[in-house]
Amino acid sequence: MTDYTKLFDMSGRTALVVGAGSGIGQAAAQGLAAFGAKAFCADLNLAGAEETAAAIREQGGEAKAHQLDMTNEAAVNALFQAIGPVDVLVTTPSVNVRKPMLELTGDEFDKMINLNLKGTFLLMQAAGRGMAEQGRGSIIAFSSIRSQVVEPGQSVYAATKAGTVQLIRTMAAELGPKGVRANAIAPGVIETPLTLPIKSHPAWYQAYADRNVFKRWGQPSELVGAVLLLASDAGSYITGSLLFVDGGWMAIDGRFEPPL
Ligand SMILES: NC(=O)c1ccc[n+]([C@@H]2O[C@H](COP(=O)([O-])OP(=O)(O)OC[C@H]3O[C@@H](n4cnc5c(N)ncnc54)[C@H](O)[C@@H]3O)[C@@H](O)[C@H]2O)c1
Repeated sequence: MTDYTKLFDMSGRTALVVGAGSGIGQAAAQGLAAFGAKAFCADLNLAGAEETAAAIREQGGEAKAHQLDMTNEAAVNALFQAIGPVDVLVTTPSVNVRKPMLELTGDEFDKMINLNLKGTFLLMQAAGRGMAEQGRGSIIAFSSIRSQVVEPGQSVYAATKAGTVQLIRTMAAELGPKGVRANAIAPGVIETPLTLPIKSHPAWYQAYADRNVFKRWGQPSELVGAVLLLASDAGSYITGSLLFVDGGWMAIDGRFEPPL
């Protein structure tokens, strides 16, 4: 019989988490390490990555920090040369310039595309090469509910989040035969530095809380279960999927609660 107690076991596996210095990436690195993975914690902000790696080691886990600008192709390739092929890639970094379409500049467009799409692509490509060669691996990219539904001010960010899903689906199609899985996670509203501007605006913060079935924001730690599912053998038949971790945001329209 299958030993189901080992389904989420990550011991003996390596995981590169890019964006590990903050928010969801930090929680993902800590969660993967807690289940036994050796975590490579990469971030543009080396101090943040070091803090995450140190916290993992304090808990008895294995972790190493790396500085990385994932928009720099040479730097991405150099990191993989240094650490070798990994079993898991989690990539979180993204930027959101919230502005009406008529006001967005070409530079702001480029900034979002460059990090959210090109950076994610470069990481998927570099990780995918090593995984295809070793015949196993799991790639997890962060999309968003904005890949499906929008509001004013989300145009290019939303487009990059939809684009990420299509990159993941294509990678799943191309590398599935080589034993590599690729999936995306779509968070709802999660309290991290990325969403701090919203938290400092009480009406906006409360409106987002009220929009999901739990009437609250999520925490980075609440994404860890989804990451582990997709990273581990528990997800061995899951590929090309988009997993919503959104407190039911996508299930309801959130406009009004009928007096039942
Ligand atoms: N927080 C939310 O409510 C929410 C909602 C939906 C989707 N998401 C998605 O989840 C992901 C993670 O978001 P978060 O809230 O944890 O973000 P965050 O801002 O807390 O963390 C992002 C990390 O990426 C790093 N980073 C930025 N540029 C980089 C680069 N060029 N190279 C390497 N690292 C770089 C930053 O230093 C930071 O540590 C994003 O893709 C975001 O779109 C977040």
